[in-house]
Amino acid sequence: MRTAVLASGRGSNFKALLEASKKEGLPIEIVAVGSDQPRAAVLGLAKEFGIPTQVFSIKDYPHRQAQEEELLIWMRKHRVELLLLAGYMRVLGSEFIQQANFPILNIHPSLLPSFPGLHAQRQAVEYGVKVSGCTVHFVDEGLDSGPIILQEAVPVLAADTEDSLSQRILEAEHRLYPKAVRLLVSGSVKRVGRRVQILQQEGLG
Ligand code: GAR
Repeated sequence: MRTAVLASGRGSNFKALLEASKKEGLPIEIVAVGSDQPRAAVLGLAKEFGIPTQVFSIKDYPHRQAQEEELLIWMRKHRVELLLLAGYMRVLGSEFIQQANFPILNIHPSLLPSFPGLHAQRQAVEYGVKVSGCTVHFVDEGLDSGPIILQEAVPVLAADTEDSLSQRILEAEHRLYPKAVRLLVSGSVKRVGRRVQILQQEGLG
């Protein structure tokens, strides 16, 4: 499945997805990587693997809608069938979501609906929860609010800081995102209203 990744930063989830596709038979081909941040490390990483990249800096457009129109043109050019947000730190507008005629997934570093938005791991440490984790969900018009595909729980330890918790959650993210994408691509995921039904658990291990 022809896949685009949008990311704003480091790109470790992009790398996990790419490795899963190259070494673990995840049936996607990452054909394009885009970022709203010209200096995002993910761009260099993608180039290393020969994947075309493009920057969509918000300041280069009169308004968000114009940036998202360019994103759509870029995705059509690459014949994208699946869009994966991997640390893309912008909310996509409803017109973009309606016009994209392919699934859009996101990974978020908390057990949604707890701690949406920025600094989810800091929010978890400050709140004092004993368990947090990560969530892969379909993207809708809200903030980290779309139908949930998979979640993985991660313990929050007494000595945790935002950084140590983020690191532990990130390791779970690298397992969870490829798993969720595999479910979607294999047709094992069905949306029923705002809920997601998993039809086969095979390979979920
Ligand atoms: C990940 O922890 C991801 O869950 C988070 O940004 C990080 C990106 O790391 N995304 C969000 O917070 C989106 N709301 P990466 O660039 O190393 O993949």
